[in-house]
Formats: sequence, C-alpha cells, structure tokens
Amino acid sequence: MDFSIKSGNPEKQRSACLIVGVTETRKLTPSARAVDDSSGKHLSNVLRRGDMDGKIGQSLLLHGVPGTLADRVLLIGCGRERDINERQYRTITENAMRAVSATGAGDAVSYLPDLNVKGRDHYWKLRQALEIASHVGYEFREFKSRKKGAGRSLKRLTLMVPSRRELPVGEQAMRDGLAISRAVKLTRDLANRPANVCTPTHLAGHAQTLARTHRNLRCKVLDRPAIEKLGMHSFLSVAQGSQEPPKLIVLEYRGGRKGAKPILLVGKGVTFDSGGISIKPAQAMDEMKFDMCGAAAVLGAIAAAADLRLPLDVVGVIPATENMPGGRATKPGDIFTSMSGQTVEVLNTDAEGRLILCDALTYAERFNPAAVIDIATLTGACVVALGHHATGLLANHAPLARSLLDAGENSADRAWQLPLWEEYQKQLDSPFADIANVGGRDAGTITAACFLSRFAEKYHWAHLDIAGTAWTTGKNKGATGRPVPLLVQYLIDQCAAR
Ligand code: BES
Ligand code: MN
Ligand code: ZN
Repeated sequence: MDFSIKSGNPEKQRSACLIVGVTETRKLTPSARAVDDSSGKHLSNVLRRGDMDGKIGQSLLLHGVPGTLADRVLLIGCGRERDINERQYRTITENAMRAVSATGAGDAVSYLPDLNVKGRDHYWKLRQALEIASHVGYEFREFKSRKKGAGRSLKRLTLMVPSRRELPVGEQAMRDGLAISRAVKLTRDLANRPANVCTPTHLAGHAQTLARTHRNLRCKVLDRPAIEKLGMHSFLSVAQGSQEPPKLIVLEYRGGRKGAKPILLVGKGVTFDSGGISIKPAQAMDEMKFDMCGAAAVLGAIAAAADLRLPLDVVGVIPATENMPGGRATKPGDIFTSMSGQTVEVLNTDAEGRLILCDALTYAERFNPAAVIDIATLTGACVVALGHHATGLLANHAPLARSLLDAGENSADRAWQLPLWEEYQKQLDSPFADIANVGGRDAGTITAACFLSRFAEKYHWAHLDIAGTAWTTGKNKGATGRPVPLLVQYLIDQCAAR
C-alpha cells in the first residue's frame, strides 16, 4: 500500500473514498461538518434517519454525496468525542480500514487522524494509522494457488493533517511507520511459512538476502562444525535429533560511530518444536512452526534499523534449529556442557528454547554489548500469566526494563514485567549437573528466565517472552509481527538518548 500525508479541505479531495468520523450522538467531527456544509446538509439528513448514531463499531457508506469530489463518503463511529483513548483510536482506525476494504475503493483519504486522543500527538496518530492500515491489509497467500484475495484491495491511503504546519512531523511518522510496517510484514511472512519451507537454512538464507539488499548490513552464518568449535553443546543437544542442519546466524547493522557499543538482539529460532523425546500432544502442534517468531522479529527489527539508517549498532544473533525426536535425539537426563562451561541436565527436551539461547547469550559477550535483549516464544506459562495481550518481560537491569516497557507503551505493543528474584533460582538445582533445564510447574516463565540469567551475568540483559503475543490461534491463525514495533521503538529511543 502507498501512503501519503496531506492537508486540505475534505470536500475538495478527489478520491474513491473519503473517511470522516461521527461521534455520539450523531455529532459530526469538523471534517464531517465540512462535507455536510458543502453538500447541503446531506450527512445531517442521512443521520437524522437513524442509521448510525456514532458508536464505535458503526459505519455507514454513502455514495454520490453532492458537493464533494469523492465517489464515496465513509462515516465511521468514533464514540464519545471528549474521551477517545489510545485503544479506541486504534479500534476506530481498524474499523475504518476494514470497512473501506469491503468497498471497491482503490484509494482513500482519511480524516480520522484529526480525532483528539488523550496524551498523543500527530506523530503518534499518523504512525498508528499507517501501521494499522498495513496490518489490516496483510494477507499470507504464498501457498494458495490463487495469489489474489477475494476483495479488491486498497492501494493508496492518504492521511490528512489539520494544516501545513503538521506536514514535517507527518513525514517523519510516515518514514518510521513504513519501516516498522515493512519489518512487521517481513516477520509475519517468515513466521507464517510452514516448517518444511522455513528451516534453519531458510532463515539463514533470508538473513543473507537482507545483507545483500541493505547497505550497512553484514551477515555471517555458522554451520554445525563451526558451532561445535565454539563449544555450543547445549545448542547442539537440541539440534542432534533433527535431519535439518542447525545454523547460528549473525546479522550486524553498523550505523553508529566507531567504537560505540552495539545493542544485541538474540532470537529463538526453533523452526519446529515437536518437543523432542518429551514429545508434545498432537493438539495444535502445527503452531509450533511459530517457534521461530523471536528469530523473525530480530531480522525484522534489524531490517527496520537499516531502513531508517538509525545512528547506532545493532547485532542480531539467532540460534536456529528444529527440535525433533529420533534415535540420536537428546534423552531426558542427558547432560551437556554449554559454551559458558556450565553443565546442564536436560530433564525435559521440550524446554529447548533456553538450551539454544544460553549459548547464544554467551556468544553475545564477544560483541561488548551495551545491552542484550533476547526474544523468544519460550513458555506456555507466559500465556497462562498474561494471555495474548502483553509480552512477558524479565531483566537484570531496571533501566533497561523501563526503556522496553516505555517502548511497548508508545508503540502499542506492550510488555509487562515479571520478577526475576533470587528466590526462584533454586528451582533449577540439579543433583547431577550445575543446572537443570526445567524448574517445575510453578512460575514457569520466571524459572525459564532464571535459567537464561545464568548466562547473562556479564552485561545488561532483558528477556521478552512472546509465547502469547507472536501469533494468534484459531480460524484466523497467523503471526502478528510482535514485538517488532516495541523493538524498533526501543532502537529509535536509544538514538535520541545517546
Ligand atoms: N515453544 C514452547 C513454548 C510455547 C508453548 C509457546 C505453547 C507457545 C505456546 C517451548 O519450547 C516449550 O515447549 N516450553 C515448555 C517448557 C516446559 C517443558 C518447562 C512449556 O511451556 O510447556
Ligand atoms: Mn518446547
Ligand atoms: Zn519451543
């Protein structure tokens, strides 16, 4: 979809569809009033018939409105004018995008960014509108024989600002929103691909393609012998049951000044998690193709950083493998020595994410990082704790946690912090090795993070558990692209802070 930012009067916009808001009860927003005035009170007359009173969720499509240059005028319910909050604005915008997609309009001009949203400026409203429009327009049809969807799709969206004064901030919102939207799409496409296509080799190939198409990106892919040489036997213990070769993917974006410490993004890249010998039940096992959403988000976030030419260094580290049962697979009770030297007793082969991440976290040390953030579909327990609305956040450094929480708040891609207290650590005690890979039923998300924390002692570190947010289940199942908006917002914020 193409986007542009403009200012001007609604009745003068030449478009297939003009989108204006109506608030409760049957009140016209300023842009709707302008259309009403130039159309000889056409809107007021229609509304008086009672087809719509302005509630959120309502919409009304009008054809042939006199006194305008638009083929259609789409009225969108905006609820009570005085107190539109962030969530309502996002719902209203999403409703508008779905309603306009249901028409034959190929382009649209929206005045919804005019709405007053408590505590938010034009930059926020425009960026959100852009991100929502491209999110709603997303379809994954790579494996459909008919590549075109049923409906005619919106090709061009113009977002309106009140005056020329807001145009520069609008352009900035558009640049940032576009980079984030492209990154979200990249992440969703990768994650939606089935595991027979999206293998560790495929992920590595994609990272290399990114490096070829963006200046400032460098990619290195380590294969099994190189991973062995590094002593990553915890990572390899997960890969050993699979026919697919594991890869350690390193994607570097260099945009900062010389000698600046990089931000490290470490993504869990389990391209299929069967559970291994501790095999999962059949129910919804197909969704374990999404167990590489952390890896996909890292690639997306780095692509966005390169797109935006952010003035900082970001390094992505992705351990990629399948987790499969088989004659050579790890057995419960097996003990391995991680790259850090710590020995791990694998009590449950389904707790594989931490086993691959711990070696990647040790590898991260060599970059002398300013901060390390890992992103992983790590625990079902996180879905129990937070549902599908918030990403779980655990960290060993309070300011880093704060920055990530703020980034999530500001990008409408929220995280919620859980404690990483020492009290939980002893759940990982093992009679045979330095540490066990599971800590029992209680506080599963926290003990998983406790495990990782043992390998992240040398730097500031945060862990994002995206088990509940990375994809949606059910009839419309699919990757969401989260937490790419949070991550890119964090990177943008870091540029301002430095
Ligand atoms: N990838 C899963 C976590 C997961 C499960 C994410 C369901 C989203 C939905 C992870 O590898 C896993 O299997 N974790 C186990 C850990 C347990 C064995 C300690 C889990 O959550 O059950
Ligand atoms: Mn698992
Ligand atoms: Zn997993």
